[in-house]
Amino acid sequence: MSHRVLVRVPVNYHHPCPVTALFDEAGVEADYLPGSPPWPVEETRDLLEGQHGILAGGDYCNVEGLAKAGELKVIARSGVGFDRIDVDLCTDRGIVLTTTQGALNDAVADMAMALILAVVRRICQGDRTVKAGQFRITPTEELAVMTLGMVGCGRIGAAVTRRAAAFGMKLLVHDPYLEPGQVEELGAASVELDELLAGSHVVSLHLLMTEESAGIVNADFLGRMRKGSFLINTARGGLVDEEALIAALTEGHLAGAGLDVQATEPPVGRSQELVELENVVAMPHAASNTVTTRARMALWAARSIVEVLQGKRPEHVVNRAVLEKLDLT
Ligand code: DGY
Repeated sequence: MSHRVLVRVPVNYHHPCPVTALFDEAGVEADYLPGSPPWPVEETRDLLEGQHGILAGGDYCNVEGLAKAGELKVIARSGVGFDRIDVDLCTDRGIVLTTTQGALNDAVADMAMALILAVVRRICQGDRTVKAGQFRITPTEELAVMTLGMVGCGRIGAAVTRRAAAFGMKLLVHDPYLEPGQVEELGAASVELDELLAGSHVVSLHLLMTEESAGIVNADFLGRMRKGSFLINTARGGLVDEEALIAALTEGHLAGAGLDVQATEPPVGRSQELVELENVVAMPHAASNTVTTRARMALWAARSIVEVLQGKRPEHVVNRAVLEKLDLT
């Protein structure tokens, strides 16, 4: 039986393209229809009809998104987050969900460092004043006298700590999923969240967005951060209560924020109000956007799809319970 897959991200980074070569070799017919924010759910729903797999970008694969996906066997996310995907629904329907965990560590860590440098050294404000003919500076500080607090510290977080250590930053980590020994290997101290927030000049978020973590950066969290500190978010906009962050930034409790992600993307309403603040540096959810990383993510996701369609177990399965239901070797 021949298989059809829907490809929702660009794949043509190298010629010949390894993704098309892989699908061709496996006899998989691929529809290359890259999507873009805000990833309308009706679009994904309609495109999924008759597909056996989806190489998913920011697609919403929830009840509505999967309404016509009767043939679907695998959702391979080009990325590590799966907050737009109904994992239990996938498991119930025997759909394997995979991610490209490990493929984007360096690119995202580079972005986190870029945002740290940009907000701490006021790069964007400086750029704006020079272009406006106002050759003006305000005092900033150097990273070597600062402490970086990592809220969550998996593979991406570890890549950030290596970079920050090279800049001479002191490191605090709060991650209940890590053993203290693992944190020490990073040259960091494992601390409770309160201690991290009170002691860090820069707090960087490296958490998955789940029901538990949604809105974790609320007025209370921000209030416990030290005065004049900075928030960096390369994870998910929904981790942050944006109204509370706007208040912290405008009232001067926080000195700035570097945000690769917003609660609403592209930003409208409150998210737009936030990104327009003078002391915010915002990016269009672009942390993994390097040619090397995006090509790697697309290829790893394509491999997972082919593996599932060929009856094999892919490496990074989110809903491992589904494997018990399926006869994957
Ligand atoms: C992820 O890994 O989920 C990033 O947001 C890129 O999509």
